[in-house]
Amino acid sequence: MENIKTDILKDLENVKNMEDLNQLKVKYIGKKGIITMLYSKMKDISNEEKKDYGMKINELKNLFNEKYSEKQVEFEDKLINEKLEKEAIDISLPAIKVLNGAPNILEKLIEEVEEVFMSMGYDVVDGPEIEEDKYNFEMLNIPKGHPARDAQDTFYLKGEEILLRSQTSPVQVRTMLKGEGKTPIRMICPGKTYRRDDDDATHSHQFMQIEGLLVDKDISLSDLKGTIDIVVKKMFGESIETRFRPSYYQFTEPSVEVDISCFNCEGKGCNICKKTGWITIAGAGIVHPNVLKMSGYDPKKWSGFAFGFGAERMAMLKYDINDLRVFYSTDLRESKLFDREEV
Ligand code: DAH
Repeated sequence: MENIKTDILKDLENVKNMEDLNQLKVKYIGKKGIITMLYSKMKDISNEEKKDYGMKINELKNLFNEKYSEKQVEFEDKLINEKLEKEAIDISLPAIKVLNGAPNILEKLIEEVEEVFMSMGYDVVDGPEIEEDKYNFEMLNIPKGHPARDAQDTFYLKGEEILLRSQTSPVQVRTMLKGEGKTPIRMICPGKTYRRDDDDATHSHQFMQIEGLLVDKDISLSDLKGTIDIVVKKMFGESIETRFRPSYYQFTEPSVEVDISCFNCEGKGCNICKKTGWITIAGAGIVHPNVLKMSGYDPKKWSGFAFGFGAERMAMLKYDINDLRVFYSTDLRESKLFDREEV
């Protein structure tokens, strides 16, 4: 037994890996293992010696188990440490850059304008981009023969009747016809418009307008001014002022151009406002009686105001962009411009 004990200690001392360890298990406590065999010899031992003999084998077995467990833990730890070392992540390596998507800045601006108008009870409506001459011109008080109908300005699709809308104003007409004389009407319509322009930094054959129309009782220019002022302040800042300049549109009388005080130089004059201190962002006016009448609203009873913002222009000013082509570019290097915190 003393020899076996020395063997156990020696064997377990020399064991190199898990496999050796498993073999030792077989050697000592396996079915035909050395310690197991000692147990089976019990029957040949005299009764007086049995107790002592049994205790000694138990001691041997406990010794083996204890040393075996120590080694087992040691090898398992070693294995885990090796694995950790092999699979370690080098956090000093530069990461692969992930290009995040970002909302299109023009869409975002339009959504902001929609929010402001919706908070004032306006509906956001849609209209067709392929439009009839009747809605795009005729019912907006632009008779046949008017220069705006010139094929150089408008894309005609079929003869002289079907065209790509050159403005969102026909949606005013469609909304009133749908309203069937009922008031109030409060709507905005953001949408694409088309004109035969050459594409450059400030022109595009396709651009976005945000049309607006309000029809109710006793609507005046001051209602229009107050409304536009709220929107401008929400979009560009509380310190921005609005001014109206006389203008001419066939579907409004009187007509105005809406200017805002330059947010860049605060009216002092800079490159953005071309040294005037003011920037034009919309056309607007009081709805022409003919337009109301043609769409089924009695101009003696009802009045209204209308406006049309240039969406790209607003976005270019708000986000300091000097080429409107970036709004429509699929080049990631350009759209990355939009991937900014404040956007
Ligand atoms: N439709 C005009 C344009 O394309 C803009 C406009 C001006 C719209 C006056 C309006 C308005 O509703 O009242 O230039």
